[in-house]
Amino acid sequence: QSVAVLGAPFSRGQKRRGLEHGPKVIREAGLIERLSGLDYSVHDFGDLNFHHPEKDEPYMEVNSPRTVGAANKALSGAVSRAIGAGHTLVMLGGDHSLAIGSVSGHAQQCPDLCLIWVDAHADINTPMTSPSGNLHGQPVAFMLKELQDKMPALPGFSWLKPFLSARDLVYIGLRDVDPGEYHLLKNLGVQYFTMRDIDRLGIQRVMEATFDHLMARKQRPIHLSFDIDAFDPSLAPATGTPVNGGLTYREGIYLTEEIHNTGLLSAMDLVEVNPVLGANPEAVDATASLAVDVIASSLGQTREGAHVSIDEIP
Ligand code: ARG
Ligand code: MN
Ligand code: MN
Ligand code: MN
Repeated sequence: QSVAVLGAPFSRGQKRRGLEHGPKVIREAGLIERLSGLDYSVHDFGDLNFHHPEKDEPYMEVNSPRTVGAANKALSGAVSRAIGAGHTLVMLGGDHSLAIGSVSGHAQQCPDLCLIWVDAHADINTPMTSPSGNLHGQPVAFMLKELQDKMPALPGFSWLKPFLSARDLVYIGLRDVDPGEYHLLKNLGVQYFTMRDIDRLGIQRVMEATFDHLMARKQRPIHLSFDIDAFDPSLAPATGTPVNGGLTYREGIYLTEEIHNTGLLSAMDLVEVNPVLGANPEAVDATASLAVDVIASSLGQTREGAHVSIDEIP
């Protein structure tokens, strides 16, 4: 059992700076030590080194298309190689546009993967529906085969072909969905669970329904794309697009425990931790340490304890 940790210090999928320091603060919160304690051999691949094209004019209101496209192309290759080498991959963002590279690289090795997107936002705007022009609000639109003819040819993205079907995607935690996104979700029949659904059903039944939907025909590798803003802003304040009424700590940890318990987690993203936006150092530490808890729990840290060999017990 080996885990590869790959940092993606990148923030050009949105307008505020600071997300490029996400990997650093998540590591400083003790990620590698925590994963080593879980009986994995941990391979820290360090941080990718993105070089940004100097001129990158907006294209159809979309900001930094060439920069985001090139970064994701590099990330996609790195993720594909790590998974091809047999590791379970953990990608540290960075903004959520990085899911384009992460999920596409994963899909290159595992074409039958399914995607669980935990987020306050659906991130399924197309360049035409985006209210912001930010690519971190659009990554899912680049992945879906069904949206192929709704997507313009953006400079920087010619390397990418849509690879995911709408039925292979489930959202959890939604509470801020733009009008164009709502239309797409309904039109495509995407399975999603909003915070209201979690209020009604409880997180346990939401997770059961998620796996029923994705594994109905067969078991397949899971990609978990976890946006820290899925959590309530009281728990994860250091993020760029906080929305009130998010996941509790226990809902988030239960969710990730259940993902681990499937035995099918093959890659995950932890994105949108922005240390520059914390009101004080405590807010940044809380957000980064929550990110570590989410990753550790996804990879098998339990609340009930674990068996260790007898000579490790004092
Ligand atoms: N829906 C908004 C937009 O398209 C916000 C997206 C926020 N995305 C994120 N990954 N935090 O700009
Ligand atoms: Mn979000
Ligand atoms: Mn997101
Ligand atoms: Mn385990």
